[in-house]
Amino acid sequence: MTRTFFVGGNWKMNGSVSQVKTLVDNLNKVSIPSGTEVVIAPPALYIDRVRQTLNKEIGVAAQNTYAKCSGAFTGEISPEMLKDLGIDWTILGHSERREIFKESSEFVGEKTAHALKAGIKVIACIGEKLEERENNTTTQVVTAQLKAIADKIDDWTNVVVAYEPVWAIGTGKVATPEQAQEVHETLRKWLAENVSKDVAEKTRIIYGGSVSAANAAELAKKQDVDGFLVGGASLKPEFDQIINARQ
Ligand code: 13P
Repeated sequence: MTRTFFVGGNWKMNGSVSQVKTLVDNLNKVSIPSGTEVVIAPPALYIDRVRQTLNKEIGVAAQNTYAKCSGAFTGEISPEMLKDLGIDWTILGHSERREIFKESSEFVGEKTAHALKAGIKVIACIGEKLEERENNTTTQVVTAQLKAIADKIDDWTNVVVAYEPVWAIGTGKVATPEQAQEVHETLRKWLAENVSKDVAEKTRIIYGGSVSAANAAELAKKQDVDGFLVGGASLKPEFDQIINARQ
């Protein structure tokens, strides 16, 4: 089967009113290849503006949501609020949230379940740190992170798994296509054995960590690499080439 190629742009905590306008204007000029889905994740403050000005063929995601619909949770936003604004996606469990904001895998699982229930699709991020790779515990780490999500959800239709090795994020040190393929294959096998063969076959597993126009095409050739979650390069003109990496 062919899984729709997925390219996400995670702007992280970057942008300004004028930069957001430039980025949206540029994205609106890109021709999106058929069979490729593009989703942009601006900072929460700019989401509404981006959704209102970006072509509808490009999706919009939040970078995080909370596990409740409303209430006394100062500083948080809910998937229900995204729905209200016509936003379809959220990133959850990004390593920067796990590391800096101490989010546990269980919490990421909880938030994933809540977002899906609210009708928001989820880009669920997992990935090992450098010392974990060097200790040969990559498989244990990423499958435990995936299990914490699998424990909380039944339906994987609206989930994209993003494998983002922490050592590759923002470092310019991209995983080789072989390293990415090896982990993606392991994750797909885990889904086949622990969720179902159908979910393993259909779920997109995308790669993130120093993806650029220079390395995207080679990574995209790998059988289990179904797209990318792009940080730094999603703020640059080369994002256009990454969107077209499968062509
Ligand atoms: P970079 O592409 O800047 O390495 O960031 C990757 C990432 O964290 C995307 O979510």
